[in-house]
Amino acid sequence: MKKWWQEAVLYEIYCKSFFDSNGDGIGDLPGVLEKLPVLKELGIGCIWFTPIYCSPQVDNGYDVSDYRSIDPAYGTMDDFKRVLDAAHSMGIRIVMDQVLNHSSDEHFWFRESRKSKDNPYRNYYIWQPPKADGSEPNNWGSYFREGRGSAWEFDAATGEYYLHQYSVKMPDLNWEYPPLRKEIYEMLRFWADMGVDGFRLDIFTRLKKPEGFPDTQKQPDVLLDRNGFIVDKKMCTNVPGIHEIIHEMHKEVFGPCDVFTVGEGAGVNSENAPGFIGKEREELDTVYHFELAGRSKPVMRAEDFRRVQKAWYEVQKKDGWETQHFSNHDSARQVSNYGAEGKYRIASARLLAVLLLTTPGTPILYQGEEIGMVNVSYDHIEDYNDRYTVGDYRSMVEKGADPKETLAVLAPKSRDNARTPYQWDASPNAGFTKGTPWLRVNPCYPEINLKKDMEDPSGIFRGYQELIRIRAEHPVIPDGEIVFHLEDDPRIIAYTRKNEAESLLVLANLSGEEAPLQLPRELCEKNWKLLFSGRPECGGDLNAKHTLAPWESEVFLCTD
Ligand code: GLC
Ligand code: CA
Repeated sequence: MKKWWQEAVLYEIYCKSFFDSNGDGIGDLPGVLEKLPVLKELGIGCIWFTPIYCSPQVDNGYDVSDYRSIDPAYGTMDDFKRVLDAAHSMGIRIVMDQVLNHSSDEHFWFRESRKSKDNPYRNYYIWQPPKADGSEPNNWGSYFREGRGSAWEFDAATGEYYLHQYSVKMPDLNWEYPPLRKEIYEMLRFWADMGVDGFRLDIFTRLKKPEGFPDTQKQPDVLLDRNGFIVDKKMCTNVPGIHEIIHEMHKEVFGPCDVFTVGEGAGVNSENAPGFIGKEREELDTVYHFELAGRSKPVMRAEDFRRVQKAWYEVQKKDGWETQHFSNHDSARQVSNYGAEGKYRIASARLLAVLLLTTPGTPILYQGEEIGMVNVSYDHIEDYNDRYTVGDYRSMVEKGADPKETLAVLAPKSRDNARTPYQWDASPNAGFTKGTPWLRVNPCYPEINLKKDMEDPSGIFRGYQELIRIRAEHPVIPDGEIVFHLEDDPRIIAYTRKNEAESLLVLANLSGEEAPLQLPRELCEKNWKLLFSGRPECGGDLNAKHTLAPWESEVFLCTD
């Protein structure tokens, strides 16, 4: 028996950019409620909401100021309950984002914590005295490179520094302190008791910090690191002791409340994954990883695809459960990165849909993928909102880089690419809002939008819909064996999925050129029936096929 989350397709909603129901330019929960039927039609089984709690929005909600609330910009708690009930009645589960590494500095805990050294909330956060010369406790840099670039911020009230791996306004929580843990567990139970079905755990690998906060020995990045403060992911990722924390969370909350958990696997790979997702571990159900796709992976080659898929299938087969994703709110758009804009946009988006939905594990789809949304590019740094883009820009320009060139370098990987408002139709602002959108709409919306795409039977939405249905009808997809063919081919991805009852054969040309195809004889001898064609105008009889057209993808079924 599979668990619900092994069969469902997850759909990530970035609420702020989804649909604005009241014209204030910000997507909201009544907007989600209104659009649920489209998601039902698409066939998804679960929504993951990025944080919708009260927040000053320094990092678009990943800076939480009240973990038990809904930000008024998104609606009320009643609006949330309405979405939860409506989704449940449609058979759609809800997963909430939990940001447990840091809070907002406007959280009540932090406002108390910074007041005095003996405040009861002092140890909810990580405070360290200055060095003898008054300087920062160590040389760690912060990811968002604010201020002088340090991960420590001096607080005059008590004369100490607090740690913030991200923004100055996002102080790290102190997981060494039992009362903090207890408070977090109660908060998680609050959401589970309300009926949410699971949690997505933000950067869970970074909750534990190394004892004594030693300097990093890493060499500074000459372009990005500022004033000798060095961003070194390794310092606070997978520090020994992290497993005890996650296991305790499982024991206190995930197990007893029977909720699904998916961790954001920063620093998780196919080798260390079993430590977090192995069944006996009692830590997490699954993670999503960055070995194939992500902010720092602008290309995806056929050989990378094979290597990563093989390694993760081994993880799943032995002990654990994998996920698939090609983009999310932290990366650029998948079509722009791994497919093609322009002439082959639809074909390449449908090809990515094929790969996402016919590989093992749980697929995670990000809003807009189902209509092939593409990257955006703005002329001024002021138009960018992503803290990484803004921080990196500042560091580079400060070091003498040309502002225009810097922007051109940073734009394609900016997280804003994925965060522009959803393109519903060709009306002003893509039908997202009647007001002024919080982030500029991608000007391509008259061409690329849901309404237009849905009308095309071989468009992207219909492709995802069809593939989600195929996935539900063929249990071989979530956990059948995956075997690759044509392994030396630089462009063609070819694999079979197999169990006792059936086999699927998937072919995909990951390039804009025609690719010669020569399948091994034992495959040709079988009786393959076409199930899905990414480019229906090219599809058809496998035996008559000697090439794959640019960005062509196909799925065949054999029940012999
Ligand atoms: C995760 C989130 C990202 C956020 C960061 C800090 O990576 O996905 O959006 O900026 O954590 O919370
Ligand atoms: Ca709104």
